[in-house]
Amino acid sequence: MTLPTTDRQRSIPELAAASAELIASLQDAGGAYPASPTFSAYLGYSWFRDGAFIADGMSSAGRTGSAERFFDWCARVLEARAMQIESIVASAAEGHPVPDAEMLATRFTFDGREGDDEWWDFQLDGYGTWLWAVGEHVRRHGGDAARWRRAIELSVDYLCASWDRPCFDWWEEHAMHVHVSTLGCVAAGLREAAALGVLDASRAVTALAVETAVRERIAADGTVDGHLAKWLGSTAVDASLAAVVGILDVVPAGSPSGRATIAELEQDLTVDGGVHRYLDDTFFGGGQWPLLSCMLGIAHLRAGDAERARELLAWAAATADAAGAMPEQVDDHLLAPERQREWIDRWGPVARPLLWSHAMLIRLAAELGEVAA
Ligand code: BGC
Repeated sequence: MTLPTTDRQRSIPELAAASAELIASLQDAGGAYPASPTFSAYLGYSWFRDGAFIADGMSSAGRTGSAERFFDWCARVLEARAMQIESIVASAAEGHPVPDAEMLATRFTFDGREGDDEWWDFQLDGYGTWLWAVGEHVRRHGGDAARWRRAIELSVDYLCASWDRPCFDWWEEHAMHVHVSTLGCVAAGLREAAALGVLDASRAVTALAVETAVRERIAADGTVDGHLAKWLGSTAVDASLAAVVGILDVVPAGSPSGRATIAELEQDLTVDGGVHRYLDDTFFGGGQWPLLSCMLGIAHLRAGDAERARELLAWAAATADAAGAMPEQVDDHLLAPERQREWIDRWGPVARPLLWSHAMLIRLAAELGEVAA
């Protein structure tokens, strides 16, 4: 099977290989993956969310050491905050949850500090996503997750105590809601943590009980007209839901809810192969995100439509520039063109390269058999 070359004449396997090289070259010596090496607002920070998907992409390309160094970094960040996490968990158990400002941050400097810049902190999803990535990695390559046991325990305790709190979503917005993609990340993380076999029996039982409760909440309150919703009670979709039915496998892609969600994402948010985050998006004018095309591609593939998955992959690959660098978003089709300028003035041009975009290209290409692992 050969995929079309990109308009830069770079084949998918070539772009995937170059992407893995790029990510490896930018990974910090301590294991952190920068979100983007050049974009002003992201400079010097590593996100648990981006990093987990980047590690999963690298793991899928056989870059085991890179993925494991990222998990080591996550473990150091978590272990250094053991007392904070224990106190968050104890306060929740006493019925007095700590305020959002005392919850864990979303991104950290490469040396594991919160950093001095204000950010939209308190996002739960990354603490599930890194657990999920560890689970995927160990399933793929074997090995012993005991090396990360303490950090896995801390993450499980944190998520079990906090999963139903409103928090910022993947896009660091709408903090007043409980987001279905955040819940999906929590469920996937707890499932994988329990499957790793490193938890004591009582924690494993709790993890699986909460995972069930999260999935039930998604089915009861996070589903509308048969498809997943952006947040509990919303009628809209968000492209991050492609992960819940695809790569995270919380709602099977081939199930009625999975199929209905994919159809809704195609209809509402996809133009050609480019996927918007959500209809009201105004960030940089609300363009199309190649990483989301790849997320949707994985969902399609798992629902049995490899042809659509290949189209989405080709679209994502074509966003790479002549040097092979992929952006966070492109402006071929903007939802709010009048809002593009203000972001360029504030933060400069769109982030490029965005490592998460490269990682998702690798990951979809790997699932299509286009990357040698
Ligand atoms: C996105 C986040 C992402 C961060 C770093 C933000 O603009 O909304 O999802 O984690 O950039 O890439």
